[in-house]
Amino acid sequence: METENKSIDEKIQGTSLMKPSKIPNGKKLYLESYGCQMNFSDSEIVASILIDKGFSTTQNYEEADLIFMNTCAIRDNAENRVRQRLQDYKKIKKSKPELLIGVLGCMAERLKSQLLEEEKLVDIVVGPDAYRDLPNLIATAETGQKAINVILSKEETYADISPLRLDKNGVSAFISIMRGCDNMCSFCVVPFTRGRERSRDPKSILNECKDAFNAGYREVTLLGQNVDSYLWSGGGLKKEILTDEQKQNSTNFAQLMEMVALVSPDLRVRFSTSHPKDMTDEVLHVMAKYENICNNIHLPVQSGNSNVLEKMNRGYTREWYLDRIKSIRTIMPDCGISTDVITGFCGETDEEHKDTISLMNEVQYDFAFMFSYSERPKTLAERKYKDDVAEDIKKKRLSEVVDLQRKHSELHTKKWLGKTTKVLIEGVSKKSDEMLMGRNSQNAVVVFPKENLKPGMYVNVYVESSTPSTLIGKVV
Ligand code: SAH
Ligand code: SF4
Ligand code: F3S
Repeated sequence: METENKSIDEKIQGTSLMKPSKIPNGKKLYLESYGCQMNFSDSEIVASILIDKGFSTTQNYEEADLIFMNTCAIRDNAENRVRQRLQDYKKIKKSKPELLIGVLGCMAERLKSQLLEEEKLVDIVVGPDAYRDLPNLIATAETGQKAINVILSKEETYADISPLRLDKNGVSAFISIMRGCDNMCSFCVVPFTRGRERSRDPKSILNECKDAFNAGYREVTLLGQNVDSYLWSGGGLKKEILTDEQKQNSTNFAQLMEMVALVSPDLRVRFSTSHPKDMTDEVLHVMAKYENICNNIHLPVQSGNSNVLEKMNRGYTREWYLDRIKSIRTIMPDCGISTDVITGFCGETDEEHKDTISLMNEVQYDFAFMFSYSERPKTLAERKYKDDVAEDIKKKRLSEVVDLQRKHSELHTKKWLGKTTKVLIEGVSKKSDEMLMGRNSQNAVVVFPKENLKPGMYVNVYVESSTPSTLIGKVV
């Protein structure tokens, strides 16, 4: 179901070089990213910082002087994949001792010096707020010492660093508007790996959007763990200490999105992730007002049962969530809605699981990322609740929601049959070089014959057939 949809988890990407080194130092970096779009966006910051210091990037790890893995810690299996990869790189290092291996991102932050000391797998460990320190850390590692910086910051947003775009299509850019998360959902490791929430100066966000547009990009996705809580108050003041008057004079997410939408009517705007407890009607009205803001909301529900939601510390009930869905449907009747679901959270009963099924039936999502619960060290849930749903039950519940979602996705794609939909072309289809792929406003993947069309163009596609994940048609 995830074909040609960006998987939130565990994807590998090499780098493509688009920006020349300043004064080349002859050293080549191979950078691999796992995890969410935030991590991919961070890798673009990392590449930019190192290119400025004279490094170049390579797509071939065998010729690299540095291998960096930007890692994810969200579930156990995400970490296992990285460990496996590290074993492979360790073998290469045996025959090439000068090779430096670095672990960046969330797993680095979670395990800190453990990867250096106990496991002796790596030379450099860097947390998500310490990338400016990379040139120093590399220099330290080159002298044979272990290098680590996992200090989290309350201010760092890398606002002044213009990222080196590493995407493959040159059409859609991911732009971080905030970092960290203050929510403390009990299952989640992100607050520990990414630190406190902080918003980025809207001016620097707008400049980045304009630069991307001028470089040919036609879509920006504004990224944050909880975009609805974006708030910029000038001077970098923290939200908690603002007076009501200062809050009134600050920029909230709805206002930021409007500013971005005004960059150009030809620049599509998307965002991720919305949080049901904070998503306002103001945001929905701005979405409805601008044609170039895509009609698509990713609104993770996690569970359809209020008791489970409370244990998850999500800050909303089933009823509240359904009310938010009602608002979306009222203000934007044709809005695509997707979600995240976790099955088998601590103590989840069969009845509680059925509430997730019934909620899914009620909402009928266009798309969903679905996971079985994976206990993470240090989280509230790990400290407070027993991870007591048997693995086979977690998996059985997961396959139930996956099957149900497939049916709903199929209903949604079928709905487009015989209709024409506007698509932004992203590139060649995975399945055939003769076909192009793009997305419509609702984020459905659309595939159609290539003709003389190019990525970055908008086309209207008449939909002739569909699968649960894809619309197939021809340009009209
Ligand atoms: N900030 C986003 C989610 C980021 S993590 C939000 O609040 O919605 C992406 C998804 O991973 C989450 O929505 C959740 O469904 C899943 N996830 C997070 N921690 C998990 C865990 N311990 N086990 C299984 N899935 C988890
Ligand atoms: Fe994790 Fe919750 Fe923050 Fe999302 S909102 S990153 S699930 S703590
Ligand atoms: Fe993973 Fe960190 Fe993102 S844990 S999902 S890479 S914020």
